[in-house]
Amino acid sequence: MPDYTNEIKKRRTFAIISHPDAGKTTLTEKFLLYGGAINLAGSVKGKATARHAVSDWMEIEKERGISVTSSVLQFNYDGYCINILDTPGHQDFSEDTYRTLMAADSAVMVIDGSKGVEAQTRKLFKVCVMRHIPIFTFINKMDRDANDTFDLLDEIEKELGIATCPINWPIGSGKEFKGVYDRNSKSVLTFSDTMKGTKEGVESEIPIGDPKFDEAVGEEAKELLMEEIELLDGASAEFDLEKVSKGELSPVFFGSALTNFGVETFLKHFLQMTSSPLPRKADVGIIDPMKEDFSAFVFKIQANMNKAHRDRIAFMRICSGKFDAGMEVYHVQGEKKMRLSQPQQMMAQDRHIVDEAYAGDIIGVFDPGIFSIGDTICMSNKKFAYEGIPTFAPEHFARVRQLDTMKRKQFIKGINQIAQEGAIQIFQELNTGMEEIIVGVVGVLQFDVLKYRLENEYKVDIRLENLPYEHIRWIENKDEIDVKKITGTSDMKKVMDLKGNPLLLFVNSWSIGMTLDRNDGLRLAEFGKN
Ligand code: G4P
Repeated sequence: MPDYTNEIKKRRTFAIISHPDAGKTTLTEKFLLYGGAINLAGSVKGKATARHAVSDWMEIEKERGISVTSSVLQFNYDGYCINILDTPGHQDFSEDTYRTLMAADSAVMVIDGSKGVEAQTRKLFKVCVMRHIPIFTFINKMDRDANDTFDLLDEIEKELGIATCPINWPIGSGKEFKGVYDRNSKSVLTFSDTMKGTKEGVESEIPIGDPKFDEAVGEEAKELLMEEIELLDGASAEFDLEKVSKGELSPVFFGSALTNFGVETFLKHFLQMTSSPLPRKADVGIIDPMKEDFSAFVFKIQANMNKAHRDRIAFMRICSGKFDAGMEVYHVQGEKKMRLSQPQQMMAQDRHIVDEAYAGDIIGVFDPGIFSIGDTICMSNKKFAYEGIPTFAPEHFARVRQLDTMKRKQFIKGINQIAQEGAIQIFQELNTGMEEIIVGVVGVLQFDVLKYRLENEYKVDIRLENLPYEHIRWIENKDEIDVKKITGTSDMKKVMDLKGNPLLLFVNSWSIGMTLDRNDGLRLAEFGKN
């Protein structure tokens, strides 16, 4: 077996999903601390501080102190090479957040123990489900008063439709938080306040028969714990790795990222339960990451990271084999042999040029404007294309008015380029010319990004007029249906995308139902196929 397969086996590539403020950044930071990749708390994301992470490349980000774009972090821990795909945490997240999930082999869902399942988690979760990737749950902030544990699990099961299997169980929460009970080893991991992680905690693992157990937990809490565990053993799903790997069962862990508690336990279990890079579907069948030569697909394009150079960076996920800098590869959609220019990787605070990378890794390459999202790069002696990345439904729409009509050309060029990078989607009303342009975005911040970039990069001023639509649907059977004849509610709008696909815009979900009722045989889809 060639030695690169060992490198691939070591790799774990996952995304962290959560609603803003649940503790995603804190958890990521603690992971990096364990991996020795950073030694300074607060270096992942500057937030209120003056420090800015590598991904903060745009003025807007600096002004608002948030991370618009997702970045990738790589570190080693316990013999594993871990790639964390960071997803923008602000509620104004973009389509990139969704796309990042296309590059991950599993997802970690961080939930605030006092809030339960929140809106953004719900949205991101849908994409994980569509991909059938394993989802691990970390219920955070147990050092604060949390909701009832059974209620939290119930909420996950009902709201997200996934069975849960707690691997450990919290003993109290807030001031009464004593630690977590490991169901497998039947021992408690005691909690000690680390003063927000600034001081090393004295965690001890005490088996249940040990007199120290009673001392650490207290009589009352122990009694309650035993009752809960009995109830849990009877009621919850049994651990089944196969179900976990299909995304049908989520292992659940409890902890407190801020105080460092339960993070390492979680990381260890998680690494054991997840797999090395998964095979992926292509037009020639399934591509095995270990057996095949180098291949990758583009999942994100980021423009103008370096303002002075106006460059673009295409981020690709390596899906098979080994990548060597300088090797000749084949860009399938461009039908061209090429060498990937300046391949780079992110490591916490630095970006650096890579000499080699393996399946599971993410590399960013300089893009002179040739790549599109979903493109495949492989070897020229075996050409194939990976399944495309779906187009995710925008939730906010606006009409674009160009203020200086003299600059029509720049405007069209700019808006098309920005759309091509996948930051926005553009539509036009069905049966009208390019006069009326409607922009759709996943997060409203992208409107600001669009305006900012058109002004700064293309010298075009625009005005955006918000439209009331919140839902968009692709017509799945567009070839069987006469789009002109579709009758919906009066506030429904028919539009088409750049490729001429017809779509419907709706103000609310009730109108979607009405339209389906009124048009026999009409099938609508939430994701657009590419
Ligand atoms: P996010 O990336 O999911 O948006 O969340 P982030 O980690 O930034 O955490 C949001 C807030 O919650 C932060 O406080 C953070 O310190 C706090 N936090 C994270 N994990 C825990 C935990 O386990 N327990 C408690 N009690 N708090 C936690 P902040 O005051 O908003 O930010 P900061 O100024 O402290 O950075």
